[in-house]
Amino acid sequence: TWTAANIVEESVAAIRAQVGDKRVICGLSGGVDSAVAAALVQRAIGDQLTCVFVDHGLLRRGEAQQVEKDFVAATGVDLKVFDARKQFLAALAEVTDPERKRKIIGKEFIDSFEQAAREIVGSSEESVEFLVQGTLYPDVVESGGGEGAANIKSHHNVGGLPDDLQFKLIEPLRTLFKDEVRAVGEELGLPADLVWRHPFPGPGLAIRIIGAVTQERLDILREADAIVRAEVTAAGLDRDIWQFPVVLLADVRSVGVQGDGRTYGHPVVLRPVTSEDAMTADWGRLPYDLLERISSKITNQVREINRVTLDITSKPPATIEWE
Ligand code: XMP
Repeated sequence: TWTAANIVEESVAAIRAQVGDKRVICGLSGGVDSAVAAALVQRAIGDQLTCVFVDHGLLRRGEAQQVEKDFVAATGVDLKVFDARKQFLAALAEVTDPERKRKIIGKEFIDSFEQAAREIVGSSEESVEFLVQGTLYPDVVESGGGEGAANIKSHHNVGGLPDDLQFKLIEPLRTLFKDEVRAVGEELGLPADLVWRHPFPGPGLAIRIIGAVTQERLDILREADAIVRAEVTAAGLDRDIWQFPVVLLADVRSVGVQGDGRTYGHPVVLRPVTSEDAMTADWGRLPYDLLERISSKITNQVREINRVTLDITSKPPATIEWE
């Protein structure tokens, strides 16, 4: 019978048999798949595994810390954090085109991952032979989706690692669907907010800022997004929604009034959607009182935002993300 405990036991045995005494690396993205894959491999071979987390500064509030602290505490994984926030910001300066943003982020990501991998390979006594990927069964079937950080190609829409950094792959989630991956993650004791995280695009908040990406805009969006997530969680609706992008219209200003004064701030767009697989989606019918709380909290707490709007378009014709 299928139980998460059985899956863990079988995977651990299979990984031990495959790896022997060789060393393994794994990229963490902050997402569910790469975290569960890494935790399984850690359970199997302990400190023969080194994980790499490229912090590109485009994650939501608390997500980098979730990887660096909570995930490490839950698994005991050996983690190498590669702080690339400055590089990503510099590379993205003044870029507004969505596909250019994706290309730049993909390239920077590969460069950073490569550099980190080289350092690990170079400092290791034993050879590093394996790379963990969080490939799921649906990815195997249609080779789409996938959020393992090392699952770079689909995640960041770019090619793989260079020839001198070719590894054999360990793909412990290859036979699993998303809900099964979550069950395995819970079995392995990963934090609930990591295991139940909504899908999040590889390019992160950069494609939720309509306009050029700057540190200030990232901070504004992160604050608004954190308010939305807290309110949805408090309302108990996390599992009823597929995804809830919050989009900052950074190049648009609208007039508002606050206290005695006129304001000239930015609008944000709330984009809650329901979906089965992200191929099609419907806009989420959220309770008005929840929307009201979100709107007043954002406009009260985020000085630069003076208007909150709701996206009521299905996919198609719109996409889930705005870029
Ligand atoms: P759209 O906006 O095309 O998004 O309806 C469909 C799903 O894919 C996610 N998405 C991405 N994921 N890299 C990713 O890893 C990307 O460049 C990317 N663009 C969109 C989006 O969040 C949704 O789940």
